[in-house]
Amino acid sequence: MRVLSGIQPTGHVHLGNYLGAIRGWVEDQHHYDSFFTVVDLHAITQDQDPAELSAAVLELYATLLGSGLDPELSTIFAQSQLNEHPALAWLLECTATYGELHRMTQFKDKGKGSESVRAGLFTYPVLMAADILLYQADRVPVGEDQKQHLELTRDLAIRFNHRFGETFVIPEPAIPKVAARVMDLQSPERKMSKSQATPLGILYVLDRPEEIKKKISRAVTDAESQAAYDPSKRPGVSNLLEIFAAVSGTHPAQIAERYSSYGTLKADLTAALVAELEPVRLRTEEYLADRAELVRIMNHGAEKARAVAAPTLARAKEAMGFIVG
Ligand code: TRP
Repeated sequence: MRVLSGIQPTGHVHLGNYLGAIRGWVEDQHHYDSFFTVVDLHAITQDQDPAELSAAVLELYATLLGSGLDPELSTIFAQSQLNEHPALAWLLECTATYGELHRMTQFKDKGKGSESVRAGLFTYPVLMAADILLYQADRVPVGEDQKQHLELTRDLAIRFNHRFGETFVIPEPAIPKVAARVMDLQSPERKMSKSQATPLGILYVLDRPEEIKKKISRAVTDAESQAAYDPSKRPGVSNLLEIFAAVSGTHPAQIAERYSSYGTLKADLTAALVAELEPVRLRTEEYLADRAELVRIMNHGAEKARAVAAPTLARAKEAMGFIVG
């Protein structure tokens, strides 16, 4: 079984990315033939700054390694290192329809019907399909918000196989249930998100212990004193309990029973988060301190990725009638 997932290098990695995605990947690499990619080509569909892009790619790549992704066990690379991705995306774009892409809710949300929206934002889901299909992935861990893109990926693969002959594996989405949604610490009715960050609402994996302490101690709760898990009525404290449960591998309601004061709940949660994140931060900083070595590891990942992606692209081209070799 092969797994593939991707993450965008936009802003720093936050707790939602870590608990909802990265930690699951670290687990997956022990059970599946695993491919993980920093989708930097997807990061230029909206305004971008070249210096920020390169810094963000290196930081994210280092954070993946610091979180425990092992470049020997998994294949870890940046999407832009392989021209196979945009090449297959073009072939697939010529099988996808305007109407199909126009129905993508993420495009509608981000594009807001504007004329000046980039064409790349419109075709974004096809590039994502190429990311997945190039590696013949069986299983794709993604958040709930990416389900529609996965459906499109499956449709495109089925259509291609039908029209040009068996070429692609049809992938299945894998939506994690644990901590799939870590909420903003200041506005707990809203997902923790890079695009809507309030300064104290978002906890970054590379935050120092004092920063974690500050953000957790100021996290919004409610006027009750006894902790209880009730996401709709008591979103703030429920989010803290959910985070605590995800970090300690228990259930939110069980943790709630142990606390009569928010002060001790917050202190213990801070300690648990620091214990989880501090080693990640220290390892990530070590990787970031040696840029040449980090780039060497990236190149090694890209080489392993190419060994799978290049033959898939060749098969797809040949199936469509291009002269290959
Ligand atoms: N679109 C995904 C997101 O925004 C990122 C992504 C790009 C991805 N290519 C992928 C995820 C391939 C899984 C597989 O989260």
